[in-house]
Amino acid sequence: MCGIVAVTGYKKALPLLLNGLEKLEYRGYDSAGIAIINSENNCISCEKAEGKLKNLINNINDHNIPGTVGIGHTRWATHGKPVVKNAHPHTDSSGNIAVVQNGIIENFQDLKNKLEEEGIIFNSDTDTEVIPHLIQRELSTLSKLNLENNGSTLLVAVRNVLSDLEGSYALAVLWSGAPTSLVVTRRQAPLIIGLGEGEFICASDTPAIANFTNIILPMEDEEIALLTPLGIEIYDSSNERQYRNPVSLKVSEQIMDKMNFKHYMLKEIYDQPQTAKNWLENYLIKNSDNGQYQINYPFDTKFFESIERIEIIACGTSKHAAMVGSFLLEQFSGIPSNVFFASEFRYSPPPLLPNTLTIGVTQSGETADTIAAMDMEIKRRSSIENEKFKPNLIAITNRKDSSIGRQVSNIIDICAGIEVGVAATKTFFAQLLSFYGLAIKFAQIKGNQSSEEIDKLINELKNLPPLLEDLIEKHNKSSEKLAHDFFNIKDVIFLGRGINYPIALEGALKLKEISYIHAAGYPAGEMKHGPIALLDKKVPVISIASPGEVFDKVISNAQEAKARDAYLIGIAPDCKGTEIFDYLMKVPSSNEWISPLLNILPLQLLSYHIASHRGLDVDQPRNLAKSVTVE
Ligand code: F6R
Repeated sequence: MCGIVAVTGYKKALPLLLNGLEKLEYRGYDSAGIAIINSENNCISCEKAEGKLKNLINNINDHNIPGTVGIGHTRWATHGKPVVKNAHPHTDSSGNIAVVQNGIIENFQDLKNKLEEEGIIFNSDTDTEVIPHLIQRELSTLSKLNLENNGSTLLVAVRNVLSDLEGSYALAVLWSGAPTSLVVTRRQAPLIIGLGEGEFICASDTPAIANFTNIILPMEDEEIALLTPLGIEIYDSSNERQYRNPVSLKVSEQIMDKMNFKHYMLKEIYDQPQTAKNWLENYLIKNSDNGQYQINYPFDTKFFESIERIEIIACGTSKHAAMVGSFLLEQFSGIPSNVFFASEFRYSPPPLLPNTLTIGVTQSGETADTIAAMDMEIKRRSSIENEKFKPNLIAITNRKDSSIGRQVSNIIDICAGIEVGVAATKTFFAQLLSFYGLAIKFAQIKGNQSSEEIDKLINELKNLPPLLEDLIEKHNKSSEKLAHDFFNIKDVIFLGRGINYPIALEGALKLKEISYIHAAGYPAGEMKHGPIALLDKKVPVISIASPGEVFDKVISNAQEAKARDAYLIGIAPDCKGTEIFDYLMKVPSSNEWISPLLNILPLQLLSYHIASHRGLDVDQPRNLAKSVTVE
């Protein structure tokens, strides 16, 4: 989604901004721009381009911009089409103020109407453009008070404007009246300040900073900061000066390296055995007293004892991981559990029940719907005096330094390392593992599962890494061949049951988001209630058939598809019953509980190869963003 980079210091701003923007490309965007205080005349020079960053770079190549203070932006269109006039930065009418913004100004239309009545002419369709005009108005009011033209005055002007803005946002503002200053602020949108060597660089996401420094100052919600080459002043919403120590960033987790892979997505699929190793190393610990394995989550799990039910809030792929998790928590650990789309939960939450654990799942830690739904649940529960209704919270995330990391103290860090491909692969896998850990933990505490079954599950988890390596190696080749036959299909149906139903949903989501082929996942038993009408020989059916409780049922459902001439692809071990499939993507035979962790890999690889064969931008599919920070 939108990305911000801003810099002030002693080094040339242009290369720093472009480098930072390049690191934000993975988040998804459709136009880009920069504004720099031109050191030759102290005026703002602004450049924007539609489409990829290289278009912006081509524009700028003709006239290099001297200056050490600037802002840059990658825009993912919300208000107004992805065209140059809507790209950021946006300026006031005089061109003396430039603003980049992430998020949404919800009351922009009212503000725009008022400004238009005052004679302001707007040049874009964006919500953002009201901000430079409002700042300009504020600066002219302040000038009547004989305030000096400097960064402090800009800070006051921006702060006064913030009280008019509704919504969530991160902002960076330049003013030619204070040519070495930069003002930045955030409300429910991420922004961090990096302390570089000779520059302060501010960004909405850590990779944009990681090349320059590993020392950062995270900004708290509703804070505003003035940055000049001489230092940083941070103020809270009550205008109290804030002092805090810098923290260091784990740079290894932020560095983007495609190695020799054609796309990040393929590299990240290949990372999954290591993801499993990391999880086993971090979280599965042998108790030296009794020799038993335990899940070592970094919080006191005593409160689990009083938990009677679980609600899980997530979006997209994270929701699919949550569905597998919910299945495990109910069926393996015996705790009632429900999963909710965060965007639905916000507006139609279930009635409050006592002794509930709320789990938020978000790899980015920034998904606006998930953060808002969690916030609502925290407030709703905190407002009740009865102890049984108090919020019990866990967040499962890949970014513990994110908004959800600040919101929730019990964090399960999935430790997957940065994921650059927009389509989630290794983070999905790591989220699944986190739920296996929770299910084991609950099963041990609640005693709803036999210790033999728990040990069996733990053993299978321990044995995963070599199985995964082998699986990826085999299916990378076979799915490339299969993709050759299927890259031109129009529709695909994915079927799964029980613990593998969410894997069918995830398989379908992966295919549609990167290949733009229509795909839908169904519980296999539901097909005959409608979707079967879609089937003919042009619609392949991918059926996940893992030996266990529902294996025979899935095979019967696959038979029904075959009877309608559908080409059948099976994701299953080579066992009796699977001869029905026209093509078998073999997975190792396993305990049914563990099967999602194996079944997802061939599906990821097949989607990857189909999209790659179609010549598409696999890592940055159209219209998608890595981190969805708007509602
Ligand atoms: C799909 C995908 C998205 C995200 C969703 C939630 O591959 O990546 O569906 O899963 O936008 O994102 P997070 O997990 O960051 O909350």
